[in-house]
Amino acid sequence: MIKGEKIRLDIHKILISIYKFNKTLNSYSIKKTISKYEDSDINFLHTVLLNSMRYQYHTAKIIDLYVHKKVREQEKILLLSSITQIVFLNFKDYAVINCSVEIAKKLKIYHGFINACLKNISKNKRKLAKVKISYNDFPNWFKNRTEDISEIDKELFIANFNQEPSIHLVFKNNIEMKNFEEEIIATTDISGFLVSKKNPKKIQSFNKGNWWIQDFSSFYPLFNFNEKNKFKNYLDACAAPGGKSFQLLSKKFDVTLNDKSLLRLKILKLNLKRLKFDTKILNEDFINFNSNKKYDVIIIDAPCSAVGTIRKNPEIFFKSKEPEFKNLLKTQEEMLLKGTTLLKPSGIIIYMVCSFLKVETDDQINKFLKKKTDFELYNFKINNRNTNYSKFIKDKCMKTLPISILNQNIDGYFAAFLKKK
Ligand SMILES: C[S@@+](CC[C@H](N)C(=O)[O-])C[C@H]1O[C@@H](n2cnc3c(N)ncnc32)[C@H](O)[C@@H]1O
Repeated sequence: MIKGEKIRLDIHKILISIYKFNKTLNSYSIKKTISKYEDSDINFLHTVLLNSMRYQYHTAKIIDLYVHKKVREQEKILLLSSITQIVFLNFKDYAVINCSVEIAKKLKIYHGFINACLKNISKNKRKLAKVKISYNDFPNWFKNRTEDISEIDKELFIANFNQEPSIHLVFKNNIEMKNFEEEIIATTDISGFLVSKKNPKKIQSFNKGNWWIQDFSSFYPLFNFNEKNKFKNYLDACAAPGGKSFQLLSKKFDVTLNDKSLLRLKILKLNLKRLKFDTKILNEDFINFNSNKKYDVIIIDAPCSAVGTIRKNPEIFFKSKEPEFKNLLKTQEEMLLKGTTLLKPSGIIIYMVCSFLKVETDDQINKFLKKKTDFELYNFKINNRNTNYSKFIKDKCMKTLPISILNQNIDGYFAAFLKKK
Protein backbone atom coordinates (compact mmCIF):
# COMPACT_ATOMS: atom_id res chain seq x y z
CA MET A 1 0.00 0.00 0.00
CA ILE A 2 1.23 3.53 -0.68
CA LYS A 3 1.65 5.91 2.29
CA GLY A 4 -1.59 7.84 1.72
CA GLU A 5 -3.56 4.58 1.76
CA LYS A 6 -1.76 3.27 4.82
CA ILE A 7 -2.46 6.41 6.88
CA ARG A 8 -6.10 6.47 5.76
CA LEU A 9 -6.52 2.82 6.64
CA ASP A 10 -5.16 3.55 10.12
CA ILE A 11 -7.58 6.50 10.38
CA HIS A 12 -10.40 4.13 9.46
CA LYS A 13 -9.33 1.59 12.11
CA ILE A 14 -9.04 4.30 14.78
CA LEU A 15 -12.51 5.65 13.95
CA ILE A 16 -13.94 2.13 14.22
CA SER A 17 -12.24 1.59 17.60
CA ILE A 18 -13.72 4.84 18.94
CA TYR A 19 -17.18 4.29 17.46
CA LYS A 20 -17.55 0.64 18.29
CA PHE A 21 -15.23 0.01 21.22
CA ASN A 22 -15.55 3.33 23.04
CA LYS A 23 -11.82 4.10 22.87
CA THR A 24 -10.63 7.66 23.42
CA LEU A 25 -7.91 9.43 21.45
CA ASN A 26 -5.73 9.02 24.54
CA SER A 27 -6.06 5.23 24.53
CA TYR A 28 -2.73 3.44 24.50
CA SER A 29 -3.49 1.50 21.30
CA ILE A 30 -4.47 4.66 19.38
CA LYS A 31 -1.47 6.62 20.62
CA LYS A 32 0.77 3.70 19.60
CA THR A 33 -0.68 3.62 16.07
CA ILE A 34 -0.21 7.38 15.67
CA SER A 35 3.31 7.50 17.15
CA LYS A 36 4.82 5.38 14.36
CA TYR A 37 4.31 8.25 11.88
CA GLU A 38 6.50 11.31 11.37
CA ASP A 39 5.31 14.82 12.34
CA SER A 40 3.78 15.87 9.00
CA ASP A 41 1.84 12.59 8.73
CA ILE A 42 0.64 12.96 12.32
CA ASN A 43 -0.74 16.41 11.45
CA PHE A 44 -2.58 14.94 8.47
CA LEU A 45 -3.86 12.03 10.55
CA HIS A 46 -5.12 14.30 13.34
CA THR A 47 -6.81 16.67 10.90
CA VAL A 48 -8.72 13.90 9.13
CA LEU A 49 -9.51 12.00 12.32
CA LEU A 50 -10.80 14.96 14.33
CA ASN A 51 -12.75 16.49 11.46
CA SER A 52 -14.33 13.18 10.48
CA MET A 53 -15.79 13.09 13.99
CA ARG A 54 -16.66 16.81 14.04
CA TYR A 55 -18.52 16.57 10.71
CA GLN A 56 -20.20 13.22 11.36
CA TYR A 57 -23.72 14.71 11.34
CA HIS A 58 -23.08 16.72 8.17
CA THR A 59 -21.63 13.69 6.38
CA ALA A 60 -24.52 11.50 7.58
CA LYS A 61 -26.91 13.94 5.86
CA ILE A 62 -24.85 13.75 2.66
CA ILE A 63 -24.79 9.93 2.78
CA ASP A 64 -28.61 9.97 3.15
CA LEU A 65 -28.87 12.11 0.02
CA TYR A 66 -26.71 9.83 -2.13
CA VAL A 67 -27.15 6.32 -0.80
CA HIS A 68 -30.50 4.59 -1.01
CA LYS A 69 -29.64 1.31 0.64
CA LYS A 70 -28.82 0.29 4.18
CA VAL A 71 -25.23 1.34 4.83
CA ARG A 72 -23.13 -1.09 6.86
CA GLU A 73 -20.90 0.13 9.69
CA GLN A 74 -17.57 -0.25 7.82
CA GLU A 75 -19.04 1.47 4.74
CA LYS A 76 -20.45 4.30 6.83
CA ILE A 77 -17.13 5.03 8.58
CA LEU A 78 -15.16 4.84 5.34
CA LEU A 79 -17.60 7.20 3.59
CA LEU A 80 -17.61 9.51 6.57
CA SER A 81 -13.86 10.15 6.52
CA SER A 82 -13.71 10.25 2.70
CA ILE A 83 -16.57 12.78 2.45
CA THR A 84 -14.99 14.89 5.20
CA GLN A 85 -11.76 15.04 3.19
CA ILE A 86 -13.47 15.89 -0.09
CA VAL A 87 -16.23 18.25 1.06
CA PHE A 88 -15.05 19.84 4.30
CA LEU A 89 -11.24 19.69 4.09
CA ASN A 90 -11.13 20.30 0.33
CA PHE A 91 -8.45 17.66 -0.31
CA LYS A 92 -7.77 16.52 -3.88
CA ASP A 93 -10.81 14.42 -4.84
CA TYR A 94 -8.99 11.89 -6.99
CA ALA A 95 -6.41 11.12 -4.30
CA VAL A 96 -9.10 10.61 -1.67
CA ILE A 97 -11.29 8.49 -3.99
CA ASN A 98 -8.37 6.30 -5.15
CA CYS A 99 -7.21 5.67 -1.57
CA SER A 100 -10.75 4.98 -0.34
CA VAL A 101 -11.31 2.45 -3.15
CA GLU A 102 -8.07 0.64 -2.25
CA ILE A 103 -9.06 0.59 1.43
CA ALA A 104 -12.52 -0.73 0.49
CA LYS A 105 -10.84 -3.60 -1.39
CA LYS A 106 -8.70 -4.37 1.65
CA LEU A 107 -11.73 -4.30 3.96
CA LYS A 108 -13.77 -6.42 1.53
CA ILE A 109 -16.29 -3.62 1.07
CA TYR A 110 -17.84 -3.41 -2.43
CA HIS A 111 -15.41 -0.85 -3.85
CA GLY A 112 -17.57 -0.05 -6.90
CA PHE A 113 -20.17 1.38 -4.53
CA ILE A 114 -17.61 3.55 -2.69
CA ASN A 115 -16.14 4.77 -5.98
CA ALA A 116 -19.51 5.71 -7.52
CA CYS A 117 -20.78 7.33 -4.38
CA LEU A 118 -17.67 9.50 -3.80
CA LYS A 119 -17.49 10.53 -7.47
CA ASN A 120 -21.10 11.76 -7.32
CA ILE A 121 -20.45 13.62 -4.10
CA SER A 122 -17.26 15.25 -5.37
CA LYS A 123 -19.18 16.73 -8.35
CA ASN A 124 -21.43 18.63 -5.94
CA LYS A 125 -19.00 19.33 -3.13
CA ARG A 126 -19.42 23.12 -3.06
CA LYS A 127 -23.15 22.86 -2.57
CA LEU A 128 -22.79 19.98 -0.11
CA ALA A 129 -20.36 21.94 2.07
CA LYS A 130 -23.36 24.10 3.03
CA VAL A 131 -25.44 21.20 4.32
CA LYS A 132 -27.33 22.14 7.51
CA ILE A 133 -27.77 20.05 10.62
CA SER A 134 -30.23 20.50 13.48
CA TYR A 135 -30.18 19.96 17.25
CA ASN A 136 -32.18 16.83 16.63
CA ASP A 137 -29.13 15.22 15.02
CA PHE A 138 -27.19 15.14 18.31
CA PRO A 139 -27.15 12.02 20.52
CA ASN A 140 -30.26 11.44 22.66
CA TRP A 141 -28.32 11.55 25.93
CA PHE A 142 -27.13 15.05 25.02
CA LYS A 143 -30.53 16.33 23.85
CA ASN A 144 -32.26 14.98 26.96
CA ARG A 145 -29.75 16.62 29.26
CA THR A 146 -29.84 20.03 27.57
CA GLU A 147 -33.59 20.58 27.56
CA ASP A 148 -33.03 23.61 29.84
CA ILE A 149 -30.90 25.39 27.20
CA SER A 150 -32.56 28.23 25.27
CA GLU A 151 -33.20 27.97 21.52
CA ILE A 152 -30.66 30.77 20.93
CA ASP A 153 -27.98 28.85 22.84
CA LYS A 154 -28.83 25.70 20.91
CA GLU A 155 -28.31 27.57 17.63
CA LEU A 156 -25.04 28.93 19.00
CA PHE A 157 -23.92 25.43 19.91
CA ILE A 158 -24.74 24.08 16.42
CA ALA A 159 -22.70 26.89 14.86
CA ASN A 160 -19.71 26.30 17.14
CA PHE A 161 -19.35 22.70 18.25
CA ASN A 162 -17.46 21.45 15.18
CA GLN A 163 -14.90 24.25 14.89
CA GLU A 164 -11.17 23.96 15.53
CA PRO A 165 -10.31 24.83 19.12
CA SER A 166 -8.21 27.95 19.65
CA ILE A 167 -4.97 27.89 21.63
CA HIS A 168 -5.12 29.98 24.79
CA LEU A 169 -1.93 30.63 26.77
CA VAL A 170 -1.54 31.71 30.38
CA PHE A 171 1.63 33.51 31.53
CA LYS A 172 3.25 33.51 34.95
CA ASN A 173 2.94 37.29 35.03
CA ASN A 174 2.26 40.30 32.78
CA ILE A 175 5.98 40.91 32.09
CA GLU A 176 6.36 37.42 30.61
CA MET A 177 3.33 38.11 28.43
CA LYS A 178 4.79 41.43 27.23
CA ASN A 179 8.08 39.69 26.36
CA PHE A 180 6.39 36.85 24.46
CA GLU A 181 7.77 36.48 20.91
CA GLU A 182 4.53 35.47 19.14
CA GLU A 183 1.46 37.54 18.37
CA ILE A 184 -1.41 37.00 20.80
CA ILE A 185 -4.93 38.33 21.27
CA ALA A 186 -5.03 39.31 24.95
CA THR A 187 -7.91 38.07 27.08
CA THR A 188 -6.42 39.52 30.32
CA ASP A 189 -3.03 41.04 31.20
CA ILE A 190 -1.60 37.53 31.74
CA SER A 191 -3.41 35.49 29.08
CA GLY A 192 -4.31 35.42 25.41
CA PHE A 193 -5.00 33.43 22.27
CA LEU A 194 -2.09 32.40 20.09
CA VAL A 195 -2.69 33.93 16.65
CA SER A 196 -0.60 31.48 14.61
CA LYS A 197 -1.83 27.90 14.49
CA LYS A 198 1.65 26.50 15.15
CA ASN A 199 2.28 23.78 17.71
CA PRO A 200 2.93 25.75 20.94
CA LYS A 201 5.64 23.25 21.91
CA LYS A 202 7.61 24.45 18.87
CA ILE A 203 7.67 28.05 20.15
CA GLN A 204 11.17 28.98 21.28
CA SER A 205 10.22 30.17 24.76
CA PHE A 206 8.29 26.95 25.53
CA ASN A 207 11.26 25.44 27.34
CA LYS A 208 11.89 28.60 29.35
CA GLY A 209 8.73 27.69 31.25
CA ASN A 210 7.02 31.07 31.58
CA TRP A 211 3.65 30.05 30.16
CA TRP A 212 1.38 27.09 29.71
CA ILE A 213 -1.62 26.14 27.57
CA GLN A 214 -4.98 26.47 29.34
CA ASP A 215 -8.41 27.17 27.93
CA PHE A 216 -9.81 30.62 28.74
CA SER A 217 -12.92 29.20 30.48
CA SER A 218 -10.97 26.92 32.78
CA PHE A 219 -8.49 29.72 33.57
CA TYR A 220 -11.08 32.39 34.34
CA PRO A 221 -12.45 31.21 37.73
CA LEU A 222 -9.08 31.15 39.53
CA PHE A 223 -7.91 34.26 37.70
CA ASN A 224 -10.65 36.05 39.60
CA PHE A 225 -9.80 34.47 42.93
CA ASN A 226 -7.20 36.69 44.57
CA GLU A 227 -7.74 36.49 48.27
CA LYS A 228 -4.26 35.40 49.27
CA ASN A 229 -4.43 37.12 52.65
CA LYS A 230 -7.73 35.53 53.59
CA PHE A 231 -7.08 31.98 52.36
CA LYS A 232 -3.64 30.50 53.05
CA ASN A 233 -3.50 26.82 52.15
CA TYR A 234 -4.94 25.14 49.11
CA LEU A 235 -5.57 21.57 48.07
CA ASP A 236 -6.04 20.84 44.36
CA ALA A 237 -7.85 17.51 44.71
CA CYS A 238 -7.86 16.56 41.00
CA ALA A 239 -4.79 18.40 39.81
CA ALA A 240 -3.41 16.69 36.70
CA PRO A 241 -2.26 17.82 34.15
CA GLY A 242 -2.06 21.00 36.20
CA GLY A 243 -3.57 24.18 34.69
CA LYS A 244 -5.34 25.32 37.88
CA SER A 245 -2.35 24.40 40.06
CA PHE A 246 -0.01 26.47 37.87
CA GLN A 247 -2.30 29.47 38.29
CA LEU A 248 -2.04 29.17 42.08
CA LEU A 249 1.68 28.41 42.07
CA SER A 250 2.40 31.42 39.88
CA LYS A 251 0.65 33.55 42.52
CA LYS A 252 2.95 31.88 45.08
CA PHE A 253 0.08 30.25 46.99
CA ASP A 254 0.76 27.32 49.30
CA VAL A 255 -0.85 24.50 47.33
CA THR A 256 -0.79 20.71 47.66
CA LEU A 257 -1.53 18.81 44.46
CA ASN A 258 -3.32 15.49 44.31
CA ASP A 259 -4.49 13.16 41.57
CA LYS A 260 -5.60 9.54 41.52
CA SER A 261 -4.00 8.77 38.16
CA LEU A 262 -0.29 7.95 38.25
CA LEU A 263 -0.07 8.37 34.51
CA ARG A 264 -1.55 11.86 34.65
CA LEU A 265 0.68 12.74 37.64
CA LYS A 266 3.66 11.86 35.47
CA ILE A 267 2.54 14.50 32.94
CA LEU A 268 1.86 16.95 35.78
CA LYS A 269 5.39 16.46 37.11
CA LEU A 270 6.92 17.07 33.67
CA ASN A 271 4.86 20.28 33.41
CA LEU A 272 5.94 21.41 36.89
CA LYS A 273 9.57 20.82 35.97
CA ARG A 274 9.31 22.85 32.76
CA LEU A 275 7.57 25.68 34.62
CA LYS A 276 10.10 25.50 37.50
CA PHE A 277 7.42 25.03 40.15
CA ASP A 278 8.00 22.88 43.18
CA THR A 279 5.32 21.76 45.62
CA LYS A 280 3.93 18.79 47.55
CA ILE A 281 2.27 16.11 45.37
CA LEU A 282 -0.06 13.33 46.54
CA ASN A 283 -1.41 10.30 44.70
CA GLU A 284 -4.67 9.58 46.55
CA ASP A 285 -8.19 8.66 45.60
CA PHE A 286 -9.74 11.87 46.88
CA ILE A 287 -12.95 10.09 47.92
CA ASN A 288 -10.99 8.00 50.44
CA PHE A 289 -8.50 10.73 51.28
CA ASN A 290 -7.87 11.23 54.98
CA SER A 291 -5.71 13.91 56.47
CA ASN A 292 -5.37 15.71 59.78
CA LYS A 293 -4.43 18.79 57.85
CA LYS A 294 -7.33 21.09 56.98
CA TYR A 295 -7.35 23.46 54.03
CA ASP A 296 -8.69 26.98 53.46
CA VAL A 297 -9.51 26.24 49.85
CA ILE A 298 -10.17 22.91 48.16
CA ILE A 299 -10.34 22.86 44.39
CA ILE A 300 -12.41 20.06 42.94
CA ASP A 301 -12.00 20.07 39.17
CA ALA A 302 -14.06 16.92 39.00
CA PRO A 303 -14.14 14.18 36.37
CA CYS A 304 -17.17 14.83 34.14
CA SER A 305 -18.65 14.16 30.70
CA ALA A 306 -16.20 16.82 29.36
CA VAL A 307 -18.81 17.86 26.83
CA GLY A 308 -17.65 21.48 27.20
CA THR A 309 -14.46 20.37 25.41
CA ILE A 310 -16.37 18.86 22.47
CA ARG A 311 -14.16 20.71 19.95
CA LYS A 312 -10.98 19.16 21.38
CA ASN A 313 -12.64 15.82 22.08
CA PRO A 314 -15.16 15.21 19.29
CA GLU A 315 -15.13 11.52 20.17
CA ILE A 316 -17.59 12.34 23.00
CA PHE A 317 -20.34 12.49 20.35
CA PHE A 318 -18.77 9.91 18.07
CA LYS A 319 -18.75 6.99 20.51
CA SER A 320 -21.85 4.85 20.29
CA LYS A 321 -22.03 4.79 24.11
CA GLU A 322 -22.93 7.80 26.23
CA PRO A 323 -20.58 9.06 29.00
CA GLU A 324 -20.87 7.03 32.21
CA PHE A 325 -23.20 9.48 33.90
CA LYS A 326 -24.12 7.26 36.83
CA ASN A 327 -20.48 6.92 37.96
CA LEU A 328 -19.54 10.49 37.11
CA LEU A 329 -22.44 12.05 39.04
CA LYS A 330 -21.75 9.82 42.04
CA THR A 331 -18.03 10.74 42.02
CA GLN A 332 -18.80 14.46 41.74
CA GLU A 333 -21.24 14.24 44.66
CA GLU A 334 -18.88 12.21 46.83
CA MET A 335 -15.97 14.55 46.08
CA LEU A 336 -17.99 17.56 47.16
CA LEU A 337 -18.95 15.83 50.42
CA LYS A 338 -15.38 14.71 51.04
CA GLY A 339 -14.24 18.29 50.55
CA THR A 340 -16.39 19.42 53.49
CA THR A 341 -14.48 17.10 55.85
CA LEU A 342 -11.10 18.58 54.93
CA LEU A 343 -12.06 22.24 55.01
CA LYS A 344 -11.17 24.79 57.69
CA PRO A 345 -14.00 26.84 59.23
CA SER A 346 -14.95 29.58 56.73
CA GLY A 347 -13.10 27.73 53.97
CA ILE A 348 -14.13 27.48 50.34
CA ILE A 349 -14.68 24.57 47.98
CA ILE A 350 -14.25 25.55 44.35
CA TYR A 351 -16.23 23.07 42.27
CA MET A 352 -15.48 23.06 38.56
CA VAL A 353 -16.36 20.87 35.58
CA CYS A 354 -15.71 21.24 31.85
CA SER A 355 -19.39 20.67 31.22
CA PHE A 356 -22.51 22.76 30.81
CA LEU A 357 -25.00 19.96 31.46
CA LYS A 358 -27.42 20.80 34.26
CA VAL A 359 -26.95 17.41 35.95
CA GLU A 360 -23.22 18.02 36.41
CA THR A 361 -23.46 21.72 37.30
CA ASP A 362 -26.54 23.39 38.86
CA ASP A 363 -28.10 20.12 40.00
CA GLN A 364 -24.91 19.04 41.78
CA ILE A 365 -24.59 22.41 43.52
CA ASN A 366 -28.25 22.50 44.55
CA LYS A 367 -28.11 18.96 45.89
CA PHE A 368 -24.98 19.84 47.85
CA LEU A 369 -26.44 23.04 49.33
CA LYS A 370 -29.59 21.17 50.36
CA LYS A 371 -27.53 18.55 52.18
CA LYS A 372 -24.93 20.88 53.63
CA THR A 373 -26.93 23.78 54.98
CA ASP A 374 -23.78 25.26 56.59
CA PHE A 375 -22.54 26.14 53.05
CA GLU A 376 -23.59 28.95 50.73
CA LEU A 377 -22.64 30.16 47.25
CA TYR A 378 -19.87 32.74 47.43
CA ASN A 379 -20.30 35.48 44.88
CA PHE A 380 -18.04 35.22 41.85
CA LYS A 381 -16.06 38.46 41.95
CA ILE A 382 -14.82 39.70 38.61
CA ASN A 383 -11.48 41.49 38.35
CA ASN A 384 -12.41 45.09 37.55
CA ARG A 385 -11.05 45.33 34.01
CA ASN A 386 -12.88 42.24 32.80
CA THR A 387 -16.47 43.40 32.67
CA ASN A 388 -16.68 42.01 29.10
CA TYR A 389 -16.90 38.61 30.66
CA SER A 390 -19.58 39.41 33.25
CA LYS A 391 -22.11 37.71 30.96
CA PHE A 392 -20.54 34.41 32.00
CA ILE A 393 -21.64 34.86 35.62
CA LYS A 394 -25.17 33.63 36.31
CA ASP A 395 -26.73 32.81 39.69
CA LYS A 396 -23.34 33.47 41.36
CA CYS A 397 -21.68 30.74 39.23
CA MET A 398 -19.62 30.89 36.07
CA LYS A 399 -21.17 29.16 33.07
CA THR A 400 -19.94 29.10 29.50
CA LEU A 401 -20.98 27.16 26.43
CA PRO A 402 -18.40 26.23 23.77
CA ILE A 403 -18.67 29.61 22.03
CA SER A 404 -16.25 32.28 20.85
CA ILE A 405 -14.91 35.48 22.37
CA LEU A 406 -12.68 37.90 20.40
CA ASN A 407 -13.37 35.61 17.41
CA GLN A 408 -11.58 32.77 19.18
CA ASN A 409 -13.05 29.58 20.58
CA ILE A 410 -13.47 28.81 24.27
CA ASP A 411 -14.69 25.68 26.07
CA GLY A 412 -17.97 25.16 27.86
CA TYR A 413 -17.28 25.33 31.58
CA PHE A 414 -18.81 25.67 35.04
CA ALA A 415 -17.41 26.96 38.36
CA ALA A 416 -19.05 27.51 41.74
CA PHE A 417 -17.47 28.82 44.95
CA LEU A 418 -19.04 27.08 47.96
CA LYS A 419 -18.25 28.83 51.22
CA LYS A 420 -18.65 27.43 54.71
CA LYS A 421 -20.83 29.90 56.59
C1 LIG B 1 -10.77 17.54 34.79
S1 LIG B 1 -9.33 16.68 35.17
C2 LIG B 1 -8.45 17.84 36.15
C3 LIG B 1 -7.77 18.93 35.35
C4 LIG B 1 -6.81 19.75 36.17
N1 LIG B 1 -7.42 20.33 37.34
C5 LIG B 1 -6.18 20.86 35.37
O1 LIG B 1 -6.52 22.02 35.54
O2 LIG B 1 -5.31 20.56 34.54
C6 LIG B 1 -9.90 15.56 36.39
C7 LIG B 1 -8.80 14.81 37.11
O3 LIG B 1 -9.40 14.08 38.19
C8 LIG B 1 -8.64 12.93 38.42
N2 LIG B 1 -9.47 12.02 39.23
C9 LIG B 1 -10.52 11.28 38.85
N3 LIG B 1 -11.04 10.62 39.90
C10 LIG B 1 -10.30 10.96 40.98
C11 LIG B 1 -10.34 10.62 42.36
N4 LIG B 1 -11.25 9.76 42.83
N5 LIG B 1 -9.42 11.16 43.19
C12 LIG B 1 -8.48 12.01 42.71
N6 LIG B 1 -8.38 12.37 41.42
C13 LIG B 1 -9.29 11.86 40.56
C14 LIG B 1 -8.32 12.44 37.02
O4 LIG B 1 -7.19 11.58 37.03
C15 LIG B 1 -8.08 13.75 36.27
O5 LIG B 1 -6.71 14.04 36.24
